[in-house]
Amino acid sequence: MTHGLFISFEGIDGAGKSSHIDGLAEAFRVQGRAVVLTREPGGTPLAESLRGLVLNSPMDPLCEALLMFAARRDHLLTVIEPALARGDVVLCDRFTDATFAYQGHGRGFDLTVLQTLERWVQGGLQTNSDALRQPDLTVWFDVPPAVAAARLAQARSPDRFEAESQAFFERVAAGYAARCAESPQRFARINADAPRPEVWAQVQAACTQRGWIVRGAA
Ligand code: TYD
Repeated sequence: MTHGLFISFEGIDGAGKSSHIDGLAEAFRVQGRAVVLTREPGGTPLAESLRGLVLNSPMDPLCEALLMFAARRDHLLTVIEPALARGDVVLCDRFTDATFAYQGHGRGFDLTVLQTLERWVQGGLQTNSDALRQPDLTVWFDVPPAVAAARLAQARSPDRFEAESQAFFERVAAGYAARCAESPQRFARINADAPRPEVWAQVQAACTQRGWIVRGAA
């Protein structure tokens, strides 16, 4: 049976991940793979309710971190783990790196508490392994915060995170860089300050290099 694949997509708000996630889903489907497209916070009825709260209701950083991880636990148990067990490809718009980048580096919340929550929520899920569930690949759309801010200025009315200052997004971007430095094999850094076809070529290359899709499949 084909092994499941877990791929997450990260970057500051305005990094431009969405269309490329759809493109990758199509590339995997063309190759006959079942694809689960999902997102965090969200992906289950409970986690989508938590998303509505965390994106719109004022709260302190501990509440924010706990709600992110509560949503993640439900998402892992009811969507991600069953999909991986079936051998599906799970494409997840954000995962735990976002919590370290936004709540940890952006808000300044204690990283060791986040590590503890990460162990509670992502541990004990895999048979015959104590390893934490982590993505097989994290596609990180790296873009200067000023470029992302210009893109966001064109967008719809901002949520609690999108309304943050450029200084906040500088810290979040540094948070992603730190996570990437800690797990370089898991990360593919994409230069997202480039025309869309070039960004897509980089995203596709991250998967072709790993032998997961054949070039030109989408
Ligand atoms: P996002 O994924 O950008 O969706 P949309 O494109 O619909 O705005 O929005 C999710 C927001 O939640 C984003 O600003 C980052 C934030 N977030 C955290 O702060 N911590 C987390 O752990 C996750 C998963 C997201």
